[in-house]
Amino acid sequence: MGVIVPDAVEHYLASLNRTHDAVLDEIAREGVRRDLPLVDAEVGALLRVLATAISARRILEIGTAIGYSGIWLAGALPPDGSLITLEMNPDRVREARENFARAGLADRISVISGDAKLMIAKVSGPFDLIFQDGSKQLYTPLLDRLVSLLRPGGILVTDNVLWDGEVVPGFLPKLVRDEADTRAIAEYNQRVASFPNLLTAVIPLRDGVSISVKTS
Ligand SMILES: C[S@@+](CC[C@H](N)C(=O)[O-])C[C@H]1O[C@@H](n2cnc3c(N)ncnc32)[C@H](O)[C@@H]1O
Repeated sequence: MGVIVPDAVEHYLASLNRTHDAVLDEIAREGVRRDLPLVDAEVGALLRVLATAISARRILEIGTAIGYSGIWLAGALPPDGSLITLEMNPDRVREARENFARAGLADRISVISGDAKLMIAKVSGPFDLIFQDGSKQLYTPLLDRLVSLLRPGGILVTDNVLWDGEVVPGFLPKLVRDEADTRAIAEYNQRVASFPNLLTAVIPLRDGVSISVKTS
């Protein structure tokens, strides 16, 4: 549980989540057991709602981990849709591929193994939705490229933009997260807020999720 949403509210939201997908539930339990930084089911549901709302056919994700958010996203795709997801940890790439196969979604998901900073140049747009959840220090350096890969009306979703409240000056008495990451997210939030053709709202769900639509 994070510090943004009170525990009772998080439990309440979790109790309303009726997705109950056996593969997702198992990956979520595995994530907790191994302390992996995966989105939770409420953010997963938000990703699926957004992808469904815009009838997404092409989705890009930065930061696959073991495929949890990827399954939430790809579950919104039509059979001929595609998710391209980038991950630099080879063990996680292997595990994500296994999980995508278990979820019956392998036919529409390509996992690109490597550093997103380099691999992003090999990806061609346009995408309907991009989910940015990799290295926090790459959020700003990748922003121009990600916006250029989005179609007009497409959505850029970014996780962890409140960083357990650490980006909010004076909110917490003691800061525990990596300072460079905190600075990187604070810089990203400013950049996104003033980006010329992005219209952005931040949802203080879990660790903070920003949703930006490309306006032209
Ligand atoms: C927060 S986790 C992603 C969680 C995943 N989106 C989910 O919710 O299921 C971030 C992932 O990004 C990967 N990562 C970090 N830096 C990266 C980079 N430069 N290129 C590609 N992947 C990177 C990490 O190895 C990690 O698995």
